[in-house]
Amino acid sequence: MSNEMDRRDFLSRSWKVGAGLIGVAGLWTTADLLWPRVDAAAGEVRTVAADAVPADGVIEVSAAKAYLTRDAAGEIVAINEKCPHLGCRVPFCESSGEFECPCHGSVFNRLGEFREGPTPRGMDRFLVTVVDGMVIVDTGNTISGPGKGDPESIDEPPAGPSCSEGSGHA
Ligand code: FES
Repeated sequence: MSNEMDRRDFLSRSWKVGAGLIGVAGLWTTADLLWPRVDAAAGEVRTVAADAVPADGVIEVSAAKAYLTRDAAGEIVAINEKCPHLGCRVPFCESSGEFECPCHGSVFNRLGEFREGPTPRGMDRFLVTVVDGMVIVDTGNTISGPGKGDPESIDEPPAGPSCSEGSGHA
């Protein structure tokens, strides 16, 4: 009789502990989903020497999750690699000389200005400064990308074939 009671008591407690753990896991998951996302890397990121930033191409600075290039006036521009549509990482296609989002086909010129696709605007930018010859990208300071209807500030048509197959983009 005593053994039977011990067993029942043990099973009852086990069920309660299990249910409690499931409840805690559910709360944890819900809180994690609802908590606002903060970029862990947000802040000033020392990247490369300013001399290394090309005027006719881009370099990726993965520590800042950004690309660096130069505008028509030769000023350094830091482009957020995240697509303004739904946040996919947008690679730069060397053959076309454009940014081509692999998720839904948005295309941007070398400065991240809108060319085509569902994106609501051009690629966002980060505040950039040059200190002692080094490019500092402030990933906590985002500048909204150029408007979808804004004219492109550089005259650089696609240089070659697109990196995304079947896009029909030459
Ligand atoms: S996330 Fe880039 S086009 Fe949708």
